[in-house]
Amino acid sequence: MAETTSPMIERTVPRLLMCAPTFFEVSYVINPWMTDHVHDTTSERARRQWDALRDTVSRHADVALQPPAEGLPDMSFTANAGLVFGNAFVPSRFRYAERQGEEAHDRDWFARHGFDIVDLPEGMFFEGAGDALFDRGVARRLWMGHGHRSDAEAAPELARLLDIEVLPVKLSDPRFYHLDTCFCPLANGYLLYFPGAFDPPALALIETHVPPGLRIPVRERDALDFACNAVNLGRVVILNRASGALRERLEAAGFMVVEVALDEFIKSGGAAKCLTLRLDEIPGA
Ligand code: ARG
Repeated sequence: MAETTSPMIERTVPRLLMCAPTFFEVSYVINPWMTDHVHDTTSERARRQWDALRDTVSRHADVALQPPAEGLPDMSFTANAGLVFGNAFVPSRFRYAERQGEEAHDRDWFARHGFDIVDLPEGMFFEGAGDALFDRGVARRLWMGHGHRSDAEAAPELARLLDIEVLPVKLSDPRFYHLDTCFCPLANGYLLYFPGAFDPPALALIETHVPPGLRIPVRERDALDFACNAVNLGRVVILNRASGALRERLEAAGFMVVEVALDEFIKSGGAAKCLTLRLDEIPGA
C-alpha cells in the first residue's frame, strides 16, 4: 500500500484517505440510521467489508491510511475529516460532541502530510467532504449541503477562504443528513442524486446548474441502499448496491458499476463515499 508523499506532486492516479474500522461500532445515536443499531455491529464483519472496499478502491487509486483512535468509532468515515482543495485542508467542526474528538487527529494528520490548515471562523458547524462536494463539470464550483450537520453560514466563508463558487443546498430529509448520502457529482459533469432529499429551492438550484441529460435521479429504494454514496474513479462507480435500473442508467452514461457490500457501516449511516476522502482535489481540474 502506498504511503503518503507530498500532495503538491501532480498525479494521474487519484489518492484517497481511509481509516481502518478497528474501533468502529455504533455506541451512540446522532442520525436516524443508528437508532436501532446500538451495539449491533460486529468488528469482524466491519473489517471484512472495509477491506473489500479498500482493495476495490486500490485497484483504481492510491490509498493512504490514517491511524484509527480508540473511543472514536466514527473515525472510519474519513469524508468528514474536512475539505481538501489543492494543498489546503479546511478541518471540520463537528456538530455533535461524540465526534468532536476526531478534530485534533485530523488536523494533525493533514499538517504532518504537508497540507496548509485553513480554518473556518469559530462558531459554525461544518462536516467536511460529507457536506461539501466539488462539481465534476465546472471547475472551482462546490456544492454544500446544510440543514442537518453543517451550517449555511459556512458556505460564504468557504467561498472566501478558497476563492471558489459555493452553491448551498438545503437538505430536508433527516435520513439523508449529509450531502454525500444523496448527491454525487460524477465524471463528465453527470450528477447522481436523490431529489427527495432536497428542499424545493435546492432542487431548483440543481436543475438550473445541471442540464437534464446529465442528471441521474435515483429512486428512494436506491437512495436507502446508499447508491448516491458512491466513489467515482474515472469510469468506475463503487457503491454498496444499485438496482438493475440504476445500473443500466449508469452504464448508458459510460460508467461501470462495482458493488461492495457495506451494510455494517450503513447501520451507522455511512457507506462507500463516507469511508473515503479524496486527497487530490485539483483547483481548476
Ligand atoms: N455515524 C456517522 C455520523 O453520523 C456516519 C457518518 C457518515 N459520513 C458521511 N460522510 N455521510 O456522523
